[in-house]
Amino acid sequence: MIKQKKLEKFWKLGFEEFNTQYFGVSKDNELIVREGNYQYNIADIVVKFGTPLEIAFPFIIEKRYLDLVQTFNFHIKDQEYKGRFFYHYPMKVNQNKEFVLPLISEGANLETSSYNELWLVRKLWEQNQFHSRIRVICNGPKTEKYLGLIQELKEKGLTIIPIIEDMNEYESLKNYRGEVGIRTKMEIKIKSHWNKKNDRYGLAPEEIYDLGRIRNLKVLHYHVGSQTTDQKGIVEAVEKAAEIYVRLKKENPTLDTLDIGGGMAVPYEKKKHYNANSVVKKIISTIKKVCDEKEIPHPNIVAEWGRYIMAPTQITIFKVLCEKPIYNSVVKKWYIIDGSFMNDLIDTWTVHQKWHIAPVTNMDAEKLTKVWLAGSSCDSDDRYTAGGASITLPKLEDLNGNGYLNIALFDSGAYQDPLASHHCLLSSPVKIIAQNGVLTVARRRESSEEVGRLFGW
Ligand SMILES: Cc1ncc(COP(=O)(O)O)c(C=O)c1O
Repeated sequence: MIKQKKLEKFWKLGFEEFNTQYFGVSKDNELIVREGNYQYNIADIVVKFGTPLEIAFPFIIEKRYLDLVQTFNFHIKDQEYKGRFFYHYPMKVNQNKEFVLPLISEGANLETSSYNELWLVRKLWEQNQFHSRIRVICNGPKTEKYLGLIQELKEKGLTIIPIIEDMNEYESLKNYRGEVGIRTKMEIKIKSHWNKKNDRYGLAPEEIYDLGRIRNLKVLHYHVGSQTTDQKGIVEAVEKAAEIYVRLKKENPTLDTLDIGGGMAVPYEKKKHYNANSVVKKIISTIKKVCDEKEIPHPNIVAEWGRYIMAPTQITIFKVLCEKPIYNSVVKKWYIIDGSFMNDLIDTWTVHQKWHIAPVTNMDAEKLTKVWLAGSSCDSDDRYTAGGASITLPKLEDLNGNGYLNIALFDSGAYQDPLASHHCLLSSPVKIIAQNGVLTVARRRESSEEVGRLFGW
């Protein structure tokens, strides 16, 4: 047991602050996942379904959602805050049914960014899988089609709150009978991968004030970026937004909600990091202070934290096919994997995302080596170097008996599926859902025919 604990520590498993609390090492030194009393042995799943493979864990989705709601509710009560908390899941983060339904079943609301995402809401509604109590916030550019569907679902009795993001949308939504929101640009710089110099969404605060009273205005919304590096960035944005809120509220008595968008980060690199409890406490105290000073009732709070909920709910497994030497570099070898970073973990390429990686078997290997990983497309950018550092993994030649190595990459549940592609016509990984001890295939391995069909063959 002591050996197992040591191995878990070495591979950074079993830590709540790293979101690896459900992961551990079996007595055979293999990667396991614990769902209550159920246990999944990842090596066994790999034998059954092959690689590349994605395994999603809905129980982690549910747990993360419920914990977040509980955290907000705790601090709301603790600080005698008068507003309520509503979580809206931003569907763009991962639209797979197996990821969205667990959240809906636990009571989460939704946020859509396009006609097609809202179309999924209609589909759920038509299949009676959607309680009309659930509220949908509609962001993203409002095309005629999108506006039409917003109107249609509103008339069917759903609570659909479109967010006005520019003056065209303001005009288009003037006659909308339901509640609306408005998005403000935040003239604030925070530390995040995705923070852009020029925000093309939303109106400047002055432009919003100039509109005077906005009919049925319910929500003030902003979104400053994703994977916000430090807590300060989140809190500064909240403070600024609360100041805009109190000013707007004076003209708009129907306004009662502040939607703080997404942005809560995930500790991909398994290093010390701010946590939800401390940031939520600060969010609530900040809004409370600004509102109390101006004697404005506390708004309800909406959070659209997508990456935070979803990233840790899926792992991706690759097989190491072989190694190749690297010349003229401090890291001396490639491990070539049977999947593709460029296709299925595209953030590796687009935003130099860092991932936590551990072996699936041979977790006790004594001989470790430092490598870079290369994907199986014939593109030199299809690789992962941990930002020019290295990835520590067992040496291939020393594996006990089985001679091959599978590796698990953590936190692949957010954004990677919607952004995935078919460079070099590689097939997407198989996707398995692990829940209540049962494994179900959500997406089987694409055949050549199926991939060809996507390109008109
Ligand atoms: C409007 C809006 N809300 C929420 C999100 C989710 O952000 P995150 O996944 O960083 O929480 C995004 C992401 O781009 C967004 O654009």
